[in-house]
Amino acid sequence: MSQISLPSPLDMHVHLRQDDMLHHVTPYTAQQFVGAVCMPNTLPPVDSMKRYDAYVAEIKAAAAPLEFEPYVPLFLRPDYTREELEPAVDRLFGAKLYPAGVTTNSEGGVKEVEKLEPVLDLLQDLGIPLLVHGETDGYSPDREREFLAVYDHFAKTFPKLRITMEHITCADTVDFLEKHDNVFATVTLHHLLYTLDDVLGGLFNPFLFCKPICKSAKDRDALQALVLSGHPKVMFGSDSAPHTEVMKRTEGMAGCFTAPVLLPMLAEFFEDNDALDKLEPFVCDRAREIYPRIRVPERNVVLENTEWTVPPRYGSVVPINPGDRLRWQVV
Ligand code: NCD
Ligand code: ZN
Repeated sequence: MSQISLPSPLDMHVHLRQDDMLHHVTPYTAQQFVGAVCMPNTLPPVDSMKRYDAYVAEIKAAAAPLEFEPYVPLFLRPDYTREELEPAVDRLFGAKLYPAGVTTNSEGGVKEVEKLEPVLDLLQDLGIPLLVHGETDGYSPDREREFLAVYDHFAKTFPKLRITMEHITCADTVDFLEKHDNVFATVTLHHLLYTLDDVLGGLFNPFLFCKPICKSAKDRDALQALVLSGHPKVMFGSDSAPHTEVMKRTEGMAGCFTAPVLLPMLAEFFEDNDALDKLEPFVCDRAREIYPRIRVPERNVVLENTEWTVPPRYGSVVPINPGDRLRWQVV
């Protein structure tokens, strides 16, 4: 039986929520990854060091007995002060920009990105990376492309600020990655595999509905080529974002729950493309290169070649591909 052993894989973008949902979903991430960027769009958001400390402790408790390192970016507010951030610089992973209203729990996000310059200057000065949900409030399929002008402005104005374009989805963003040395990207599993037709070309599939929305086959192919090339500025970030089945079906919440199937499906994707050697750089090495200051627990995660069927639901949450037969399984 063949095996794949991954040294300390990392998921550089995940939503673990809070309370019961956090305790329910965190083990799926902690079994497959030794650390993850845990997004701060909780209710209320993680926008102070007091909340930050409580959130890190809650996640670690939910992952126990597994050792798991949460990297939590603060929910970016335009009014953070040097007094607030400087003492926390050693433990702070980054700051996450959510333009107001573009995704789940982003109502308290930034209304006018133009007014962010003082706080971005402060982040740059303190060496705190910026993570961005890069979408405008324009026509859905164009939102990420329209946001490239904002990335361009930030990257030029703050050349020492490390900027990560989260969950990138389109071919223009792939090209844009080459433009600035200080711009990096995460790519999800679902944007690598699916297009808008999978979401709504037949019957609407609410479990594949997320922000940013999956794009065209051309965009997906550009993402695949980028990831299969082992690009040094690109790391894995699942954007696994659980909502209950009821909320998905009745409220139309955006977010795909992928946590339990991530490494098995990534292994399958790389294997199908004769590029299994690129799996480890994508899920293990790139994040450590791009964020050299993170502390990464040492643990091997092993996959073996044993078929299994994705269950219809995990508690109240439906995964992206219930009923699929997968070839790889986490031991
Ligand atoms: C995420 C969520 O549910 O928190 N939803 C999503 O569609 N991806 C938020 C986000 O990352 O945009
Ligand atoms: Zn997200």
